[in-house]
Amino acid sequence: MTPDWNRAARGIVERCRQLASYTEEPGWTTRTYLSKPMHDVHRALTDWLTPCGCEVHIDAAGNLRAVRAGDGPTLIIGSHLDTVIHAGAFDGILGVVMGVALIESLDARKLPFAIELIGFSEEEGVRFGVPFLGSRAVTGDLDDRAIALMAGPIREFGLNGAELPLARLKPPLAGYLEFHIEQGPVLEQLGLPLGIVDAIAGQSRMEVRFEGAAAHAGTTPPRLRKDPLTGAAEWIVEVEREMRHTSSLVATVGRINAQPGAPNVIPAVATMSLDVRHPSDSIRRGAARRLAEAAERIAGGRCLRLHMETRSDLPATPMDPGLTDLLEEAVRAAGFPVHRMASGAGHDAMILAKHVPAAMLFIQSPGGLSHCPEESVREEDVAAGLSSGAEFLRLLERHYV
Ligand code: GLV
Ligand code: MN
Ligand code: MN
Repeated sequence: MTPDWNRAARGIVERCRQLASYTEEPGWTTRTYLSKPMHDVHRALTDWLTPCGCEVHIDAAGNLRAVRAGDGPTLIIGSHLDTVIHAGAFDGILGVVMGVALIESLDARKLPFAIELIGFSEEEGVRFGVPFLGSRAVTGDLDDRAIALMAGPIREFGLNGAELPLARLKPPLAGYLEFHIEQGPVLEQLGLPLGIVDAIAGQSRMEVRFEGAAAHAGTTPPRLRKDPLTGAAEWIVEVEREMRHTSSLVATVGRINAQPGAPNVIPAVATMSLDVRHPSDSIRRGAARRLAEAAERIAGGRCLRLHMETRSDLPATPMDPGLTDLLEEAVRAAGFPVHRMASGAGHDAMILAKHVPAAMLFIQSPGGLSHCPEESVREEDVAAGLSSGAEFLRLLERHYV
């Protein structure tokens, strides 16, 4: 019997909304790396996956791992469980919940491959400014600094950091498939439910800190001030100028903190995040370099000290041509138009793609909205993605028998 994809899609949207209620901040959806509500997300997903015959456990990095046994290599289906601050209900989690529904739709059907569904514990980089901690744990790409940052949260969550090496993926692997909302306006403008991702733009993330001298706001004349916040303001305008002058470049200061942070104290320290993205790595790195030089110039002109630290530098990542062709065939077989596109947003597929053939399917984002509470999906688009996913499994099955 053909599954009722519309009904399944309704269930998916309800589940995403349920998971969005597991939050650090009542009234909003905020769930950063291994924060307390992540326990509730793990519990709900385990309750849905166990009746499907999956073996579920949480690995040492806090990733939820659910294995549906099968003869042959493992197809990984994944996306992330963490959110930005004041997020919507679908970024990341939709891909995981669609994976649950796909496994449910298989019932007891035997496949010539196993499926591992992974809910990555960290993708957004909100807690430490360092993104992709969950996927980097499974591919073995964590550096010592990231491991040190993760140690406290891992312990507090009740996990054992010494077991991180056990989180590594177990070959043989058939591939990696990620469903995700588009997070932009392209599919809606084209009137399409789905997009097939062929490449993901590279991204640089940095922390920039200007240090000056705290002083009295009422008594310190302009010429005696070493105000790092006015230096920061000047630099942020430079960031915007660089973005406007470089075609296809996006550059964002999304976080700024002034210390000590009192209305009548000239700040001593201003700390900012920087996020720079472009489809071309050389253009992105050139822009990041010019922004670093601008920070040096501004600090020099204002007698401020400057500290800059690169938190992440990820190259633009193509998806696997063979697996992407298979996904395209699946979308067509499910009866939907095919549209290939690049992703401006970062995804766990960027990390997995270095180790295993990866493919990604976008679901339309109404209004192009994401990283905000208004983020949404249409049930019919989720149903389109799900039935395409089912076709993908069918085509992959044919490949292995
Ligand atoms: C993830 O959402 C990113 O692109 O920053
Ligand atoms: Mn995401
Ligand atoms: Mn996101």
